[in-house]
Amino acid sequence: MTDSRPEWAPAAIDLDQPSSARVWDYFLGGSHNFEVDRRVAEQAIAFKPDMPDLARQVRMFLQRAVRTAAAAGIDQYIDIGAGVPTMGPVHEIARETVPHARVVYVDHDPVAVAHGQALLADDPDAVFIQADARSPRAILDHPEVHALIDLDRPVAVVLCSLLHFVSADDDPAALVATLRAAMAPGSHLIVQHASHDGQSGDIIKMLQMWNANSPEPMYWRTHDEIENLLAGFTILDPGVVPLPLWRPEAEDRAGAAENPERYASYAAVGTKPGATAD
Ligand SMILES: C[S@@+](CC[C@H](N)C(=O)[O-])C[C@H]1O[C@@H](n2cnc3c(N)ncnc32)[C@H](O)[C@@H]1O
Repeated sequence: MTDSRPEWAPAAIDLDQPSSARVWDYFLGGSHNFEVDRRVAEQAIAFKPDMPDLARQVRMFLQRAVRTAAAAGIDQYIDIGAGVPTMGPVHEIARETVPHARVVYVDHDPVAVAHGQALLADDPDAVFIQADARSPRAILDHPEVHALIDLDRPVAVVLCSLLHFVSADDDPAALVATLRAAMAPGSHLIVQHASHDGQSGDIIKMLQMWNANSPEPMYWRTHDEIENLLAGFTILDPGVVPLPLWRPEAEDRAGAAENPERYASYAAVGTKPGATAD
């Protein structure tokens, strides 16, 4: 059954096709999703009941990593594949430490973009642009990126739950390398990436179900493949580790560290080596 189109939904979107942004929003407890998204999300939950917890764990990692970047003095952020920017998004977290942090959110999903733009309408230091991560040069050259971000100074680039939507043919390593080349020394790269390492049948079935039902297939990678995506960055301790093990804070630790593989993904933060300008 197709939803009736809510007021906030852009006219161009197809209400019969699920999108990862809106399925993720459903996992996070948001309201920017449609019947088709909820159906696919519930199918995923049937295979892997802790999918909503996974989405929260990714958000908590993102927040820990952004706090790390902010503590290093980074006051500008580009969050690519940002999704619907609710539930403790980058600008709110960074500004706890760096009050005037500037943030560019990027997504290709029209609902994430429409909602993000509405949410940030009164914020002169944060924008949400629609762009495809597979064209990183277009993002770096975007006028709104130029207006807010000074690439001659350190920037934190967030790629959380994004690179596993980029196929080998679309070359995620080249995507990251293009970003790295534009980032000043001292910049941070924040990555979370799904992995099938050590996973059993149910989660593999969930991946197959997702790929059969979604126009955005996922490409899971091994630990070493994910580490290779961070080539040219100095990887901060504790390295490329299962998601909940990246510098957990007390409240994140409960339960998660008991079986860190259960989230089927790795997290890492790299810094670009070299002399910083400031
Ligand atoms: C699973 S959600 C993750 C959202 C957020 N980064 C987080 O970690 O909570 C993946 C997001 O990546 C976006 N995405 C996937 N492929 C993309 C692409 N090629 N270009 C831009 N965004 C993309 C989706 O629209 C979706 O919002």
